[in-house]
Amino acid sequence: MKDIRNIGIIGLGRMGRCMVHGLMASGGIKKEQILFTTKHAESAAKVESELQIKKASSNAALVEQCQAIVLAVKPQNIAEVLSEIKDSAGAGKTFLSIVASVTTSQIESLLPKNTAVLRAMPNTPAFVGEGISALCLGKKASEKDFQRAETILRTLGKVVQVDERLMDAVTGLSGCGPAYIYVVLESLTDAGIKVGLPRDLAKQLSAQTVLGAAKMLLETGRHPAALKDEVTTPAGCTIDGLLELEEGKIRVTFIKAVVQATKRAKALAKQAKIG
Ligand SMILES: NC(=O)c1ccc[n+]([C@@H]2O[C@H](COP(=O)([O-])OP(=O)(O)OC[C@H]3O[C@@H](n4cnc5c(N)ncnc54)[C@H](OP(=O)(O)O)[C@@H]3O)[C@@H](O)[C@H]2O)c1
Repeated sequence: MKDIRNIGIIGLGRMGRCMVHGLMASGGIKKEQILFTTKHAESAAKVESELQIKKASSNAALVEQCQAIVLAVKPQNIAEVLSEIKDSAGAGKTFLSIVASVTTSQIESLLPKNTAVLRAMPNTPAFVGEGISALCLGKKASEKDFQRAETILRTLGKVVQVDERLMDAVTGLSGCGPAYIYVVLESLTDAGIKVGLPRDLAKQLSAQTVLGAAKMLLETGRHPAALKDEVTTPAGCTIDGLLELEEGKIRVTFIKAVVQATKRAKALAKQAKIG
């Protein structure tokens, strides 16, 4: 992060914390170079003592001192943040928003015309460096801004560049996706209990199975159906398990979950009360 003296994070909640964790673990930046703000003094004091990073005196002061600024507040708080920082924003600074649903043009409309804005949708496995972020560029974002944003997001895991029109769908799939998989993991663990396994063993077997299956898919590049077929021997156990899943409409349930979450992501932009 050669050309970034300080990184500022506006909003140090769950995702902001993931970012601080990732940035510090990457070794590319020292904690003295990270500034943050929160809405409430009590939450800021907690962050300062837990993470030993420095609180800026205001959102505007943070922007003045930083070259890269991450916007990590909820959609309903973004308008107030942008109105506080608009006089400190402008050329030379990179604004990376991870605010769900709010578009780069909505953000650009409240900042000076030449401000570089990018938007990303990370996910919570970022906390252990195994997240995936989809990243898109606003109108004034240059290659240098893209590189700055990508460098920050890489500390959280993988990064893919997407067209902005796909961001709500990305939110419904990988942004919300960890929650779907935790439900799967909880269910598999309970299933292990039901068939007589100790809880810790059931949890370990379930989690490593999900991790290993995902790795197989990514590393072999094969179709998930082909990988499933390999586990499914004629008149074996797996086909009986699969039959239960099909009767429970697992496929359509997952598809509907992503469709509904995507619709909600689209609707959330209205809560931001911009434009
Ligand atoms: N959680 C996820 O899985 C996930 C994944 C991808 C993207 N996102 C997006 O990331 C954003 C943050 O999510 P989150 O889960 O981290 O939310 P969160 O835990 O509620 O944190 C929001 C943070 O914003 C701060 N804040 C609110 N108004 C502010 C203001 N005017 N100035 C400075 N800070 C302010 C809050 O401060 P206080 O603590 O003092 O109230 C809090 O620290 C959201 O837009 C969300 O959609 C979340």
